[in-house]
Amino acid sequence: MTAPIGFFDSGIGGLSVWRAGVRLLPGEHTVYYADSAYCPYGAKEPDEIVARCVFIVDFLLQHHCKLIVAACNTATSAAIDYLRAHYAVPFVGMEPAVKPAALHSLSGVVGVLATRGTFKGRLYHETRAQFAADVQIIEQPGDGLVELAEAGQTNSQQASLLLQQYIQPMLDAGADHLVLGCTHYPLFIPLITRIAGHRLTIIDPAPAVAHQIKSLLAEHHLLNTSGERARHEFFSSGKHGMLKDE
Ligand code: DGL
Repeated sequence: MTAPIGFFDSGIGGLSVWRAGVRLLPGEHTVYYADSAYCPYGAKEPDEIVARCVFIVDFLLQHHCKLIVAACNTATSAAIDYLRAHYAVPFVGMEPAVKPAALHSLSGVVGVLATRGTFKGRLYHETRAQFAADVQIIEQPGDGLVELAEAGQTNSQQASLLLQQYIQPMLDAGADHLVLGCTHYPLFIPLITRIAGHRLTIIDPAPAVAHQIKSLLAEHHLLNTSGERARHEFFSSGKHGMLKDE
C-alpha cells in the first residue's frame, strides 16, 4: 500500500525514530509532524497532550497515513489509550526500554532518563513492575534537555552540566545501563558517552520500534511493495524560541 507512515513528536526528537524507521523500511513514504509550538510536552497536563495528539492525528489522517507512530514517550504515555480507542488506524507508541536494560544488567542497577510526564504514566509503571522488579531503577527526570535539543545545543556547556548532574548519581550507584526514555535524548549520546565512558550501555529504543512498525505493517498487509522512490514530508506547528537569551 503506497500511503505514507505518519510520525509525530513534540518537536525534533521523534526524528531519531523516523530515521530508524526509514533505514529499515526504505520503500515507505513518510509524513513527520513536529508540534514545535507546543514543545515541550514533558510538564504539560495529560488532557492538554491528548488534545494536541488528536489535532496531529487528524492532520496525519488528512495526509492519508496508513499507520501512525507516536514518536514521543510523553505523548504515548498520555494519549495512546485514547488514540487507540477513538481511531481505526494502527498506532505504534514508545515506552522506556526498561525490559532489555533489566535483562542485560550485570550490576542490577539501571538508570532511566525520561520526562516527568513519562514517569507519571501507567505504561512506564506497568513495564517497570513487570520486567524490572528485581533490579534497582534510578529514575531521573531530564528537565531542560528537550529545550536544549530543540535549540540545537546538544553539545553545549549547559547540556554538559545538566547531564553530569543527572548521570553521575547513576554511576555512583553502580548503574551499567542507561535507558533513554525520551526521543530527544539520543541527540545527547556523544555527550553522555563523554561523561560515562564505557561504564554505561545506552539503550535507545528506536531500532526496536522500527521493527515493530514493520511487523505491524506486515500484519495489516500495509507494506509498500510498489518499488516507488520514497517521499518524505515534514510539517511543524510553528517556530518556538524556547530558550530565552540571557
Ligand atoms: N520527545 C518527547 C518524548 O519522547 C519529548 C517530550 C517533551 O516534549 O517534553 O518524551
